[in-house]
Amino acid sequence: MSVAFRSSALEKVQEIFRRYPDRRAAVIQLLHLAQEEFGYIGPEVERYVAELTQVPPVFVHQVLTFYGMFRTQPAGRHHIKVCRSIACHLMGATSVLEYLEKKLGIRAGQTTPDGRITLSTVECLGACELAPMMQVDDDFCGPLDEQRIDEVLEKLK
Ligand code: FES
Repeated sequence: MSVAFRSSALEKVQEIFRRYPDRRAAVIQLLHLAQEEFGYIGPEVERYVAELTQVPPVFVHQVLTFYGMFRTQPAGRHHIKVCRSIACHLMGATSVLEYLEKKLGIRAGQTTPDGRITLSTVECLGACELAPMMQVDDDFCGPLDEQRIDEVLEKLK
């Protein structure tokens, strides 16, 4: 099976190429677009982005795997995004992430085997007053401690 953007996304591709004439600089924008379109960036999508930008596939792979915001596997039914920017970091984001990884049995960037939850890390979500915080689907949760995390996880069926 081969992948391809819909025509509306192809128009965005052309816009990206106008803004970033250096195709290497366009790769990260195309990966964002690909994730929006396909949900995650598997090997086929990775090759497709390399074809579109005409840069070596290894370069696309390096960009893809360097940044934590790209998913390389299908997302779960729920998506937890733990903020690790400065305010959340100072308030214990590392412990929050470690606790979630232990409870869910996965690492950041992975999805539980039952497809229930995807766990990611993100940069500041603009809700620093809730630090340490996470976004769960469309909701912000915080300040977090282990009890609050347990309550949130309990509701994610
Ligand atoms: S630093 Fe976490 S929401 Fe701003």
